[in-house]
Amino acid sequence: MNNTYFNSRAAAWDDNPVRIENARRIAAAIRAQLPFSQTWTALEFGCGTGLISRELLPGLGSILAVDLSSGMIEQLQKRIEEDGMKNIKARCLNILTHPPTGTVDLIFSSMALHHVPETGLLLDALTAQLNPGGFIALADLDSEDGKFHDEEAGPVHHGFNRAELMQRLRDRGCEAVAAVTANTIRKNGRDYPVFLITARKAA
Ligand SMILES: C[S@@+](CC[C@H](N)C(=O)[O-])C[C@H]1O[C@@H](n2cnc3c(N)ncnc32)[C@H](O)[C@@H]1O
Repeated sequence: MNNTYFNSRAAAWDDNPVRIENARRIAAAIRAQLPFSQTWTALEFGCGTGLISRELLPGLGSILAVDLSSGMIEQLQKRIEEDGMKNIKARCLNILTHPPTGTVDLIFSSMALHHVPETGLLLDALTAQLNPGGFIALADLDSEDGKFHDEEAGPVHHGFNRAELMQRLRDRGCEAVAAVTANTIRKNGRDYPVFLITARKAA
């Protein structure tokens, strides 16, 4: 299950340069697509060690970064303390079963959507946590051949069809839904494009 798999990888998560570059490009794409404000509260779902949250923090008011893996959250907590990042709070929780209370101005996520089997329920939960007029930014793999992950990762979605995911956001009251390619990951001799879909919840 996710927790064991990601716990065992958490300590070395930030040692992978491909992962660091992917996070850097996704964070840059989110910043380029959305009108950031230091008054905004934000939620990152599936934050891992906080690669994206740590990049985006300077443009935002505060971030609640959540992850199912206690190992990942421990790593993020360590970095928060080392770097004195008072405006990020890290919480170990399952976004589906224990969604945080309250609503936020921005929700973002990188490479986490494909690890949640129930995409529809997840999109329900995420859009419910957005303030009217708030933004959502989801980065993940385009539909792929099933070879991006090894078997240990457990059941995962083999990427997503952008147009379908965009429609699912519109169906949940989002507008200005747009997609860009944030990165392309080269792995095992193949190219895996990574999309960023952004949208605004109707006011
Ligand atoms: C591939 S990692 C991505 C980590 C980070 N976003 C990054 O880009 O480096 C996916 C993360 O999603 C988390 N995750 C999976 N299902 C979750 C759920 N239901 N609630 C919260 N976090 C979840 C996993 O524990 C894992 O840390």
